Amino acid sequence: MSYQVIARKYRPSRFADITAQEHITGTIKNSLRMGRVGHGYIFSGLRGVGKTTAARVFAKAVNCQKMIDDPVYLKEVTEPCGECESCRDFDAGASLNISEFDAASNNSVDDIRLLRENVRYGPQRGRYRVYIIDEVHMLSTAAFNAFLKTLEEPPSHAIFIFATTELHKIPATISSRCQRFNFKRIPIPEIQHQLDFICNAEGISADADALQLIARKAQGSMRDAQSILDQVIAFAIDSEGERAIRYEKVSELLSYIDDEHFFMVTDAIAACDAAAMLDVAGMVNRNGYDEQDFLEKLIEHFRNFLIIHNLRSSKLIERPEPVRERYQKDALRLTAEAIMAMTDFLMQTQRELKFYAEHQFRFELALLKLIELGRGTTVPDEKKKPLLNR
Ligand SMILES: Nc1ncnc2c1ncn2[C@@H]1O[C@H](COP(=O)(O)OP(=O)(O)O)[C@@H](O)[C@H]1O
Ligand SMILES: [Mg+2]
Ligand SMILES: [Zn+2]
Repeated sequence: MSYQVIARKYRPSRFADITAQEHITGTIKNSLRMGRVGHGYIFSGLRGVGKTTAARVFAKAVNCQKMIDDPVYLKEVTEPCGECESCRDFDAGASLNISEFDAASNNSVDDIRLLRENVRYGPQRGRYRVYIIDEVHMLSTAAFNAFLKTLEEPPSHAIFIFATTELHKIPATISSRCQRFNFKRIPIPEIQHQLDFICNAEGISADADALQLIARKAQGSMRDAQSILDQVIAFAIDSEGERAIRYEKVSELLSYIDDEHFFMVTDAIAACDAAAMLDVAGMVNRNGYDEQDFLEKLIEHFRNFLIIHNLRSSKLIERPEPVRERYQKDALRLTAEAIMAMTDFLMQTQRELKFYAEHQFRFELALLKLIELGRGTTVPDEKKKPLLNR
């Protein structure tokens, strides 16, 4: 069998398997139970968070023979059965009751006319034909207008699901006729959990830290996380070697700037050590790290300090345990005010850096300025407030 990418292989086929979007799947299931299915939906949110997946499960559910025929099953389970003829067609990608239309490449009035023609015909089998219109914000104004009439008086068998990453680009005339669902970014622990599940199913052992790193890098997108996992598997596992994913390999592949570098920055601030600070700048340069990227992560580092200051706990910091301990220890060396001032300064530097060619030089200056901002703001040990818990 040919290799199937993880994102496709592990696409959920039931509502229950769609992670972190319970506010949406719950509402949809309720409407199915009550027999109140609408004709127009907008699914908005970041790429790879389950919009297309949820649309497909929805389409499968409204056509599932068991859901239609068995009121007890409908009420108590409210999931496509996966066994009836319609469900099997869906799972094989052979159902005629679902059409996916990519508005990014078919965005002219003519394309919409064709779609409208198509919508007139009801389903051969099952109840509804579901039209998923992906990247709907790419439609031209004329194309949107051509669509309005269909949306105002949709045939009873048609359900339109408009998916978009840019909700604000959809005209109010369209969105006001639809039910709107906002898909969330998927939290890191839930992505990590899913990656762990996939590795288990694939017979691969993986360090929790390694998977957490991938989950963090994906920034809330499950698909991104899964694509990185594909890449990591290809990179880290050779045909004879052990089937294992190690933290070091992942951080190497992702050219991940290790947390250590950011602690070096805050150490240099606490010690007013300009030479150590210049070492960090040199290291960034030598390793070919992007300065903007480094600043972004440094801001996140300071944010973690603020979390410790405000919550007196490191529970919300998504890092391996030893790193969390380090945060607890180091954060309280600086006052919250100083950390805030440094964060502001770094954000300003990020904006300014965009306008200059000689990044390296300005980047160095910015790091040195942090020492000045930190001077006299360190908190002596005896004044540190104790932590509440961990
Ligand atoms: N909420 C989720 N729960 C589980 N897997 C998900 C979720 N969102 C995305 N995925 C995974 O990512 C892949 C792409 O998701 P998709 O629904 O196509 O994203 P999009 O929001 O861009 O339409 C899916 O095949 C699935 O493997
Ligand atoms: Mg999609
Ligand atoms: Zn079924």
